[in-house]
Amino acid sequence: MSRKRMIYEGKAKILYEGPEPNTLIQYFKDDATAFNAEKKAVLDGKGVLNNRISEFMMTRLGGVGIPNHFIKRLNMREQLIKKVEIIPLEVIVRNVAAGTMSKRLGIAEGTQLPRAIVEFCLKDDALGDPLVSEEHIAAFSWAQPHEMDELIALSLRVNDFMSGLFAGVGIKLVDFKLEFGRFFENDMQRVILADEISPDSCRLWDLETNEKLDKDRFRRDLGGVTEAYSEVARRLGIIKESQQGANVVDISGASK
Ligand code: CDP
Repeated sequence: MSRKRMIYEGKAKILYEGPEPNTLIQYFKDDATAFNAEKKAVLDGKGVLNNRISEFMMTRLGGVGIPNHFIKRLNMREQLIKKVEIIPLEVIVRNVAAGTMSKRLGIAEGTQLPRAIVEFCLKDDALGDPLVSEEHIAAFSWAQPHEMDELIALSLRVNDFMSGLFAGVGIKLVDFKLEFGRFFENDMQRVILADEISPDSCRLWDLETNEKLDKDRFRRDLGGVTEAYSEVARRLGIIKESQQGANVVDISGASK
């Protein structure tokens, strides 16, 4: 790891300087945190799975015209990405009530929402990523009005595409979190999807049994966290049946 200059270390990922200007290397750790890092663990193979799942999602989204930071996967834990200026907001899209929305509004987990709901949280660990309104965002200039239009439109397109993709493999996309960044190119600036899309950032339930296949297995001590993540990867066709389970770090071709 010493060959590259570290730019930033987050809870589940590290960013290193990339090989070319305007690129970074995103490294996926096995570390898991929840409740604003009050709960921590190392989950063997999680980083490998999230690297693959995020690659898959970003590639598919790129294929339907949703601009994102993914360039290519470098090895089992690293991907080359475009360097962006992260917009300090977490965009949460919800199809089914769960998590903090259920708590806050007293809506039973699992209740289908009348329409997809988009929420914004300020990216600020010290404050616990508080929910903010578009009024706050405009008043404090966390994002410009035209960027907000773009964030909402892109998030809803991501939701439509991913809901269909997951439904096709027997998974309900309950909710997820996206992050966006400003990408600068030839004096132009545009908003693109950044960060990751993985079972760390989505709630994914089995369509038939409602079994949780996401980070709630860790948050709620349900066990079988990486097994659930590899089940998601298997259903998406990213890993083969035989590769499921403890052996995830041996994904073939992963070091290419
Ligand atoms: O996850 P939690 O109950 O704390 O918050 P939520 O607002 O119900 O989370 C909605 C969705 O965003 C879930 O799929 C979370 O996994 C995801 N999320 C995330 O990836 N990172 C955060 N900092 C907060 C939420």
